[in-house]
Amino acid sequence: KKVQELSGPEFGVVLLKTVDSTNEYAKRLVRNHQRLDVVLAEEQTQGRGRRGRQWQSPYASNLYASFVWPVTEGMRQLEGLSLAVGLAVLQAIDDLGVEDAGLKWPNDILVGEEKIAGVLLELIGDLADQSHVIIGVGINVNMQRPVEEIGQPWTSLRHQLGGYVSRHDVYRGLLGHLRRILSVQKLEGFAALRQQWDARHLWRGRSVELSSGVGLVKGQVTGINDRGELGIRTSRGEEFFAGGELSLRLA
Ligand code: ATP
Ligand code: BTN
Repeated sequence: KKVQELSGPEFGVVLLKTVDSTNEYAKRLVRNHQRLDVVLAEEQTQGRGRRGRQWQSPYASNLYASFVWPVTEGMRQLEGLSLAVGLAVLQAIDDLGVEDAGLKWPNDILVGEEKIAGVLLELIGDLADQSHVIIGVGINVNMQRPVEEIGQPWTSLRHQLGGYVSRHDVYRGLLGHLRRILSVQKLEGFAALRQQWDARHLWRGRSVELSSGVGLVKGQVTGINDRGELGIRTSRGEEFFAGGELSLRLA
């Protein structure tokens, strides 16, 4: 099977000075049937995290990118996708020389306890018909403290590496890893990436609390399964939870 996405002479890049959110911009273009593969911006005025949270996106500091990926293989292509993208981001960060980065289920990249990057996926269209997934990636590159609006520990490549980092290098590395990982995800599904992901899984074996809008689950993290769901050993035995709207904290 031939895989030719995110590559080739037709690869369409839009580079913006300022935008509300690269994910929103990509969604608008796709809805208007305009051809595009990636949107990059210098600044986002309404950068978003999961569940409507804000993603701080100061001018010319970081990488804000949204990739458009057509869904051709149905659900199998989407299962575990946000974890797969997180793995690609982690590998790009590793290559730059950051030590001790790891993955927090489902979609965060941390160094120790500090968040350095995040992934936000949004599906547009109908799975039964033609749909696309917008793969939003934010990597903190040269952002420096303090940024008061961020209410949790964070870091940037500059903080980790001790000097200015070229966003071009970060993007190039990310694109290489993303192309490879998305090919695997598309052809074989997340099952083929699971072991690599779990090898970098922060909090495996740790006591955690998993909260959703309706309840709280307490237990010990066992790992992830082939669908990218999180295993937790609770008083009822091992149970698996799908990403979506869940929030994980150390207990
Ligand atoms: P979870 O989704 O598991 O609850 P989370 O608290 O990290 O994890 P997210 O929605 O994934 O929530 O991320 C948004 C949060 O990330 C914001 O509420 C803010 O605390 C933090 N944040 C915002 N901008 C940045 C940034 N540039 N770098 C690091 N962290 C940021
Ligand atoms: C998270 O950790 O909650 C995800 C953060 C994702 C941020 C990126 S930056 C590029 C893209 N555009 C957005 O508005 N969000 C994502």
